[in-house]
Amino acid sequence: METKKVVLITGGAMGQGRAHAYQYAEHGFDVVLGDMQDPSSAEFQETIHQCEAKGARVLAMKCNITSTSEMEALFAKAWETYGRLDVVIANAGVINFGYTWELSDEQVEKVININLIGTWRTDKYAAKYMLKQGFGRIINISSTSGLYGTPKLATYCMSKWGILGLTKTLAKEVGSKGIIVNALCPTKVKTPMCETMEYVQFINELTGKNFQSVEEMYAGVPFLEVEDIASMVYWMGTSREAGKFNGREVALDLGTLQ
Ligand SMILES: NC(=O)c1ccc[n+]([C@@H]2O[C@H](COP(=O)([O-])OP(=O)(O)OC[C@H]3O[C@@H](n4cnc5c(N)ncnc54)[C@H](O)[C@@H]3O)[C@@H](O)[C@H]2O)c1
Repeated sequence: METKKVVLITGGAMGQGRAHAYQYAEHGFDVVLGDMQDPSSAEFQETIHQCEAKGARVLAMKCNITSTSEMEALFAKAWETYGRLDVVIANAGVINFGYTWELSDEQVEKVININLIGTWRTDKYAAKYMLKQGFGRIINISSTSGLYGTPKLATYCMSKWGILGLTKTLAKEVGSKGIIVNALCPTKVKTPMCETMEYVQFINELTGKNFQSVEEMYAGVPFLEVEDIASMVYWMGTSREAGKFNGREVALDLGTLQ
């Protein structure tokens, strides 16, 4: 079998994960996609077909990052199929809203369990397989919410700050063994995550605006396009320059951190 480089992406069915899949497929990678959605869903099918149209072989599996057995199966199948893992993108994540004093145990546990513990689980298996081969790059998707606090976003901020602690620790553990681990911190990105009236309401409260729809919000507040994130994640996963730093967070912040 021809040896091509391989990228594994969690939350690869839609949104940013889909854009990463397209970017790597366009550059000759084979693609492994894990998502809580079933590969037969319309969203996932679209991603799979577009990657194949770009020349990639695609391994797509239903895989919840909160499940040890499903994650073990995803990585084992990827290894069995391709025998290498060049880049792993720990991308799957969710958001919820509420003032700190209003949050329930369930709301907090949900986001920590998916965003933080799920990213740890992704990194765990990525590191195990990359240590076998002696190379690889892991990119953890944090957020600008991993760099500052935002009202009503405690669950998300806690999880995204935690991802930076994980990134820095793992980078120290595996840096001398040929493995690079960095985090990307994007500000708001146009994806399904932001395309709910609950999200629009959150932005209205944050900015004092009165957007009535996702379209109005997109027109009135700066958002990144998924392609911006995908280009940066491709650079982080493949460039010589991005192999020269380890355990770092890169912020695509549209100037919001000034
Ligand atoms: N959209 C933004 O404004 C923004 C900004 C900064 C960071 N992020 C982060 O970027 C990452 C991707 O988000 P997005 O904007 O593409 O969101 P999205 O909701 O559009 O897509 C998320 C994908 O992850 C999958 N997913 C969710 N929970 C999962 C789980 N437990 N196991 C497996 N798959 C799961 C979903 O099915 C979906 O395919 C997330 O970590 C998010 O926190 C998003």
